Amino acid sequence: MFKIPFLDLPPLRGAAGTVRLPGSKSISNRVLLLAALSEGRTVVRDLLASDDTAVMLDALRALGCGVAQDDDTVSIVGLGGKLLAKHAKLFLGNAGTAMRPLTAALALLAATQGGSFEVSGVARMHERPIGDLVDALRGLGCAIDDLGNPGYPPLRLNGPTALALATPVRVRGDVSSQFLTALLLALPLVAERDIRIEVIGELISKPYIEITLALLARFGIDVRREGWQAFVIPAGSRYRSPGEVFVEGDASSASYFVGLGAIAATDTPIRIEGVGSESLQGDVRFIEAAAAMGADVKAGPNWLEVRRGAWPLKGLTLDCNHIPDAAMTLAVMALYADGPTTLTNIASWRVKETDRIAAMATELRKLGATVDEGPDWIRVQPLQDWKAAAIHTYDDHRVAMCFSLAAFNGLVTDAAVPVRILEPQCVAKTFPDYFETLFGVVTANAADIPVITIDGPTASGKGTLADEVGKALGFGVLDSGALYRVTGLAARRAGLDLDDGAAVAAIVPSLRLRFSEGHVFLGTEDVSARLRAEATGLLASQVAVHPQVRAALHQLQLDFRRLPGLVADGRDMGTALFPAAPLKVFLTASAATRAERRYKQLISKGISANIESLREDLEARDERDKNRSASPLEPAQDALLLDNSALGIEESVTQVLGWWQRRRPF
Ligand code: DC
Repeated sequence: MFKIPFLDLPPLRGAAGTVRLPGSKSISNRVLLLAALSEGRTVVRDLLASDDTAVMLDALRALGCGVAQDDDTVSIVGLGGKLLAKHAKLFLGNAGTAMRPLTAALALLAATQGGSFEVSGVARMHERPIGDLVDALRGLGCAIDDLGNPGYPPLRLNGPTALALATPVRVRGDVSSQFLTALLLALPLVAERDIRIEVIGELISKPYIEITLALLARFGIDVRREGWQAFVIPAGSRYRSPGEVFVEGDASSASYFVGLGAIAATDTPIRIEGVGSESLQGDVRFIEAAAAMGADVKAGPNWLEVRRGAWPLKGLTLDCNHIPDAAMTLAVMALYADGPTTLTNIASWRVKETDRIAAMATELRKLGATVDEGPDWIRVQPLQDWKAAAIHTYDDHRVAMCFSLAAFNGLVTDAAVPVRILEPQCVAKTFPDYFETLFGVVTANAADIPVITIDGPTASGKGTLADEVGKALGFGVLDSGALYRVTGLAARRAGLDLDDGAAVAAIVPSLRLRFSEGHVFLGTEDVSARLRAEATGLLASQVAVHPQVRAALHQLQLDFRRLPGLVADGRDMGTALFPAAPLKVFLTASAATRAERRYKQLISKGISANIESLREDLEARDERDKNRSASPLEPAQDALLLDNSALGIEESVTQVLGWWQRRRPF
């Protein structure tokens, strides 16, 4: 997962392949709450692992539920409607799907069994309305204190108090459907008699209510529905755990890949596994909207296949009330359309993770688009003249994810631009691996994938610098020295004459090399520690003089140029491997400094060393690397020199990132 200040998406050109979606957020948190209110154990499989489910699980633990987690399976031992903890302070982050239903459930439990519970969240949570739900609960007799602004969290839920269940519970349905969902999920706790809920105003986001009703049914509660205006929870309703529940893939998350297929899958489709025609989630109907814009969609029970149909996409006017979350994706697809796209009936966007109408309009305009907005609609014009933009994401996962589709601008303009996504880790709310998943199914021109080269003599600190710069940018790292080291080691083990370039080169294709999380494997053996040994460095320097060996390793190194970018360290990264790299650094330090650093490194690993002989070894290797005829160690003509003798690692990293930033169009 990308925990970095920004992620630059180079121009993307195509898409194909299969993605498996993470579990649905809406289903995950509803199922967790229902399992917690039921008696006995519920095993929840394919649960979404995300910020929103983590806060729900923490809250359930704090309330005394048994929670055991193993990968994406969670087993919950429920309360059976009986409070184990009578006091708790619950922090619910920015999870509306935790805040609303927990407020309703705890208000009712406190009223009937006594207790005091505080619910709070992040600052944005305290700006998201909950007053309509609080009013409905107070109407029932619940005692609720506003701890901040009335109508918003944080709240304190107190009891015991007498509940008045004979008169219908009235709740507004036109701000957020989560208020009704919260009541539907919680009121079975007190259903000694029929409880009638009446919706005031037009109910929005009905498909989410359908999810709620379907899941209640799975937990033994059959709500009677009168149109969308009234709901009756029958007397004697009791939560009954179904024992095991499988969580569907997240249909809102599917929308990015549906959009991706519509824009860029010109040949093989994008296959999306985890949602399909039998999904509970209303957001699967996004595929109808995408098809109306031109996507070619096939659907099976729990899969979708999408490829490009009409191109450019078709602009349209669409009421998006039934797909509020997924509809944000349409706003970005609209940039690739043949005319304006108007999304209407989306007032709920204004009370989500951020004011999404304002956010989408502002960020689309940064790309150069013409956008108009009203209280509950947005209109986006197609875009020809794209600008490189840094997209602010407002701590809103969906803004980050849908704007990734803007990186396909090279399909409609010759002047392709990269797209910078600020604070990309906000996707963790529902899809922690979103960008990794995206990079797994998209293609870019190699020349568009940025490379930063860091060359320099041995022990100059290239490896550390490359790792840190890579981490800061979310780029992959190529430690090319490791390839020469592995080759030297394998050649020695095979008993080859290291001066015989052809023989050493011949073993390269059969090396079963694997790089995984900073470790290098040769076959099944983790050779990372062996590779770092001084003796292996000498073997490497010996085999590296042969042009045949260098040629044999060439393509292997080029293959490291993968999305979203690469930091490559070695001797000839800027001169031979990536001569067109947009930033080349030549890192040096005095021989004395380098010997001292290597000495400290070895001592810290418990390896004895002699600083004088280390210095002699370094100088000997530098000589050999500089004086060989094949790719001698020398700075590329356009390399920037960085002598880090007197610099700490952080200063060097800052320097390189500063140089990099100056080369970016943002
Ligand atoms: O960076 P290092 O110490 O791991 O490199 C080991 C040897 O490999 C070094 O002495 C020279 C050789 N090498 C090379 O010739 N070209 C590279 N790109 C990287 C390393």
